[in-house]
Amino acid sequence: MISKLYIGTNTKMYKTIADTVSYLEELKKLTADIDRNLIELFVIPSFTSLSRAKELVSDGSIKLGAQNMCWEDQGQFTGEISPVMLKEIGIDIIELGHSERRHIFGETDEQLNKKVIAALKHGFTPLLCIGETLEQKQLRISDECLSIQLKAGLNGISESDARKIWVAYEPVWAIGVNGIPASPEYADEKQGVIKKVLYDLFGETGSDIPVLYGGSVNPGNACELIKQPNIDGLFIGRSAWDAGNFNSIIRDVLPLFLSKKNLN
Ligand code: 13P
Repeated sequence: MISKLYIGTNTKMYKTIADTVSYLEELKKLTADIDRNLIELFVIPSFTSLSRAKELVSDGSIKLGAQNMCWEDQGQFTGEISPVMLKEIGIDIIELGHSERRHIFGETDEQLNKKVIAALKHGFTPLLCIGETLEQKQLRISDECLSIQLKAGLNGISESDARKIWVAYEPVWAIGVNGIPASPEYADEKQGVIKKVLYDLFGETGSDIPVLYGGSVNPGNACELIKQPNIDGLFIGRSAWDAGNFNSIIRDVLPLFLSKKNLN
């Protein structure tokens, strides 16, 4: 059973090292009183920020992730970042298959599967992002697309390794400045589809994989989203890039999440 609220942000190609440092300092201070047994708070900043960021949150109050990773430990892969290099920094999470990686940089399910396997081998938590495009939604093949992305991306993963995986459902049409937020009901239905595929793949272990929703989450829709039965957490872009705003969203949704799970 999912007994913690998973909530985090990907700062994409925004925030310099200095920006990330001041953001994390503020977020850490603002959220200091929140019991970390109830919440898994994470930030996925730029690669260049990670070393400094790690020094700031070495107490584990905020987990850190990288936005991408190569599947090889080393080699002739100019421009790539290896798992060994990320391990050296001591981060926790590797975000894989964000829609911008898939659709701007052409990442395939096959490559993502190699990255998931490499992340697990090095003891990271892979955060696999999946989501259908607008065209796929209009063709009514969203469920099939989500199933393919999961089955191909998680191919060959053992049940024991599956325990370490997180999944984020981020419909491509819902993300970013031109995104249209998914309705809570639509998001919940698709999250249910994802949970069923995870159950088919991994049995009961699949039910323990947290499935987060992302795509234009904002202060106006976060509460309705988190009330949905199949939404275990939120993966937020723009609305979390100000530490004060992010802290407000966390405080709005945490009690709703806990009462949904009967944890308070
Ligand atoms: P927005 O919340 O800005 O739509 O971005 C979501 C996202 O891409 C998180 O990874």
